[in-house]
Amino acid sequence: MNPMKPMNPVNAATAPVADTDTDTDAITDAGAGADATALRRSAELEGLIRQAPGRFRVMTGDRPTGPLHLGHYFGTLHNRVRLQDLGVDVFVIIADYQVLTDRDVADRLTEHMEAMVLDYLAIGVDPERSTIFNHSAVPALNQLMLPFLSLVSVAELNRNPTVKDEIAHSRQSTVSGLMFTYPVHQAADILFCKGNLVPVGRDQLPHLEVTRTVARRFNERYGQVFPEPDALLSAAPLLLGTDGTKMSKSRGNSIALGATADETARLIKGAKTDAERHITYEPETRPGVSSLVLLAALCLDRDPHDVAEEIGGGGAAGLKRTVTEAVNTRMAPIRARRAEYARDLGYVRSVLRAGNARANEIAGATLDEVRGAMGGVR
Ligand code: TRP
Repeated sequence: MNPMKPMNPVNAATAPVADTDTDTDAITDAGAGADATALRRSAELEGLIRQAPGRFRVMTGDRPTGPLHLGHYFGTLHNRVRLQDLGVDVFVIIADYQVLTDRDVADRLTEHMEAMVLDYLAIGVDPERSTIFNHSAVPALNQLMLPFLSLVSVAELNRNPTVKDEIAHSRQSTVSGLMFTYPVHQAADILFCKGNLVPVGRDQLPHLEVTRTVARRFNERYGQVFPEPDALLSAAPLLLGTDGTKMSKSRGNSIALGATADETARLIKGAKTDAERHITYEPETRPGVSSLVLLAALCLDRDPHDVAEEIGGGGAAGLKRTVTEAVNTRMAPIRARRAEYARDLGYVRSVLRAGNARANEIAGATLDEVRGAMGGVR
């Protein structure tokens, strides 16, 4: 389904990959042209970022529905740290209200949020330079949703292919207003801090279009307040889960960042391969084997074809040995840092508190500006 050919994983590791909880691979064909445009624009943006990182504010985030995994790491997390280290101002939202789009209650929310902060810290998100915050702690952000909702039509909301797909896969029998409108909420996530760069997977492109539309219409109606943010998209390797389908928090097929070496070995041991002994990298015809090869290649910063060739006649057992060792070696320092931070949850909470304080300050200022532009009551 993914029309983007995986590229050399050394470069590809910088690229975001689609990753939501629901399976959003089934983006309509109309999206393919948009992908190509976004890819071209993203290459251009990479150049601009290198020249003047200070011109960019990145906004990105995750829903706190479960542990972050290797798919997130190589897809998006790694890229956030790269951007941060290039000198871009990075905002990471833990999208707690967004959890409620496809389920009645957000389970174990505090636990998931703290685990997420731990993951961010462990991979190198630096709270001195980047801002980690969550939806429900920033009221002014959420208030932006009201004027923003007035800027989009029901017909436009209805056309969003990612929302359509998520509705089709939702565990709820009815579609809530939040599910239907969350791309507008996401526009508030991005625009409250005037984010102008959003690293996304292709499933998020329609949402970014909503954000751009909201910004443009707001500016047209009330005067210039918001930037029209760019998507930062590139050809990303799609890591499959251990069952050969997309790696996803909710499918029980993922290897968590915080998994132990033993858990990792067990999960990889149970991964789906095929009967052919000779190991090759052929994602189209051998998805299970190729995804394992890709995982090893990403961990080793090597080309997947070379990794496959080296394993050669080693069969599934040889492949799994290589992958397990590659993952455990690559993740060891991250896991060690994670364990260290986990011993001090007070610190973890203080990181989120400080991020929320900063987000609140910015959201308040933006909301004032919005009220001023709209001529409303203060
Ligand atoms: N929808 C994103 C996801 O499921 C998470 C998210 C919420 C987000 N708000 C955002 C991503 C703003 C980028 C910008 O992965």
